Parts: sequence; C-alpha cells; structure tokens
Amino acid sequence: MTVATISAVSADEFRKVMSKFASGITIITGHDGAEPIGFTCQSFYSVSVDPMLVSFSVMKTSTTYPRIRDTGKFAVNVLAREQAGVSGQFARKGADKWASIAWQACRSGDPVIADTLMWVDCDIWAEYDAGDHWIVVGEVTELCPADWHPGDPLLYFKGQYRSLGDLERCA
Ligand SMILES: Cc1cc2nc3c(=O)[nH]c(=O)nc-3n(C[C@H](O)[C@H](O)[C@H](O)COP(=O)(O)O)c2cc1C
Repeated sequence: MTVATISAVSADEFRKVMSKFASGITIITGHDGAEPIGFTCQSFYSVSVDPMLVSFSVMKTSTTYPRIRDTGKFAVNVLAREQAGVSGQFARKGADKWASIAWQACRSGDPVIADTLMWVDCDIWAEYDAGDHWIVVGEVTELCPADWHPGDPLLYFKGQYRSLGDLERCA
C-alpha cells in the first residue's frame, strides 16, 4: 500500500477521497428582513442532544452565509430524493435561487422549503475558524414533526446525486 505524503496531495485528490463519505444534502436558509436567502450544504450533522445542537461548515467565500450570520439564526432543510434540482439551484452563486421554490416562514421567520424530508430552525450558538471554512454550531429552537415527510433522502456520493434505490442494502 502506498500512502502519499500529505504535502504532495493536491486539493483535487483530497476532494476525491473525501467524496467517498456519503451524506444527505441540505439547504441552509435565512431571511434578512427583505428576502429569503440560502445555499446548498452537504456538511451538516447533529452534534448534541442536551442542549440540542447541530452543525455545518461553510466556505469563507460564501456571499450568503455572512448575511445569515447577521440575523443570528438559520434553518436547515434536508432535501428529499426528488429535490436534486433544488440542490443545484441553491449552489449557484448570483442566481435567483428562490425562483419556483415554494416556502413558508417558520416561527422565527426563517424559510422552510416545501416538500423537504425534515427541517430544524436554530440560533447561532458558536462559530469556529477552520481553515478556508467556518464551522457553525446552531442551537435548535424549532423542529418539524417526526412524520413531516414520509419519503426518501437525496444522497450525495462521489460527486453524484443518489437515492437509496441506487445503493445495495448491506444488512
Ligand atoms: C452537493 C453540494 C454540496 C455543497 N456543500 C457545501 C458545504 O457543505 N459548505 C459550503 O460552504 N458550500 C457547499 N456547497 C457549495 C455552495 O452551495 C455554494 O458555494 C454556494 O451556494 C455559493 O453561493 P453563495 O456565495 O451565494 O453562498 C455545496 C454545493 C453542492 C452542489
């Protein structure tokens, strides 16, 4: 087995190796008072139950996240299998990300996108400097009912959108 020296590993190779970690896809949303804002985010995970904390990381070049940070809160919308187009739309810088997107405000005013698998709304609890990203931790202030959407998740693996049907059951 040959293991590359870290200094010789390119960013592309690092991304390729990391892309073998399959995940769901979320849209992180907020509302700046004038309009809804949001971006596609794969790096979401649940952190703590007591208190209820979740986290995501965001590129420091994001133009949307600083506007979300200014509001002190954000919502996480976990996409369902049918929503690969929504993921693509919210990943495009400068595009009209909200064109044809149905949404409603949750209690805090943050946008909840229609037909997602689940959502949570959070206050920003902490933010950590992490290289070219920020790690953002949110404390959950509201969440959807457990039976919000009966469907399957949209998955992301090796740079491709997948569904559970694409993957073999392993147990
Ligand atoms: C499948 C997928 C997953 C992504 N995951 C992340 C992520 O975890 N963190 C991040 O900062 N950007 C992620 N992005 C890229 C952002 O969505 C994109 O850079 C962002 O929308 C840039 O626009 P902005 O300048 O409006 O923030 C992802 C994009 C795609 C297509």
